[in-house]
Amino acid sequence: MALESIVRPDSTGESEERDFTNLRPRSFAEYIGQREIIDNLKIAVQAAMERGEPLDHLLFHGPPGLGKTTLAYVIAEEMRADIVCTSGPALERPADLVGILTNLKRGDILFIDEIHRLPRIVEEYIYPAMEDFEIDMVIDPGPHARTVKLELSHFTIVGATTRAGLITGPLRDRFGFSLHLEFYDIEDLRTIITRSAGILSTSITGEGSQSIAFRSRGTPRIANRLLKRTRDYAQVMRRETIDEITSVEAMDINGVDEAGLDRLDRNYLTVIIKQYSGGPVGVSAIAATLSEERDTLIDVVEPFLLARGFLNRTSRGRIATAHAYRHLGFTRSGQEELPL
Ligand code: ADE
Repeated sequence: MALESIVRPDSTGESEERDFTNLRPRSFAEYIGQREIIDNLKIAVQAAMERGEPLDHLLFHGPPGLGKTTLAYVIAEEMRADIVCTSGPALERPADLVGILTNLKRGDILFIDEIHRLPRIVEEYIYPAMEDFEIDMVIDPGPHARTVKLELSHFTIVGATTRAGLITGPLRDRFGFSLHLEFYDIEDLRTIITRSAGILSTSITGEGSQSIAFRSRGTPRIANRLLKRTRDYAQVMRRETIDEITSVEAMDINGVDEAGLDRLDRNYLTVIIKQYSGGPVGVSAIAATLSEERDTLIDVVEPFLLARGFLNRTSRGRIATAHAYRHLGFTRSGQEELPL
């Protein structure tokens, strides 16, 4: 893994799904944080279970790494349902979707990650499937085209997206729940880190978990990743316990600063300040200057910078805040401040 990616929750998380499965909570009882969402889900699950019915379709939105996939698995476990996972871009043709839907049993959960990237033609097939649990299949396209109605079992779609704004109205309307995941606070991240350290049989002090929590960008996936890197560092340095100094040293060598910003975050802000006089500047221009994907900046980099007040988004473009200037050691004219 490139050093730059240590604090990046990649947008799908797929590359490390398996790595983190043992750290994942499997039930509501094990789940830390997102209290409001969990309370809502508990009621929905209990009500559906008592009626012997499948759960309503459910949409999660929010930045990557906050637990959308994890929650889909937790719901499946709590509903004692089987879960099938796919993603918007993987469903290239209607036949891909139909193949999955016709194999679902009553109560099964179909998790669709990055649902905002579902091709429009596939999306059209999903509407009647979600609403009436049937699909119209076109057979023999051409002059003798016929359609047949396929009955589906009553299943539940759990959709996840980092970009709620890109979901079309008709699709959004077919979800019974639309739940937004927020960044986690330090206390919840500390509890997650302590729990994960226990699972990994790693000793950590309160200060050690606190300093990792502070640099985790409000994101459990990053907290767990930083914990693992710090555990490696502690082992090689022959430190028995992860204390504050050990965790700070480990994160320094990984390029993560005391606010949790990594090189890409700092480069992003530096480009706005130095090349574009602090903004406003369009995200496409920043992406071109950095040779980065525009979507990566929007999905992964910006949400945390916005939430922590390093960045403002206006109709005319992105603006670096005074907080960003101070954090990176620039004066308001974009000059680097000389050390005293
Ligand atoms: N690991 C990752 N996210 C978690 C969460 N929200 N609760 C408990 N453990 C976690």
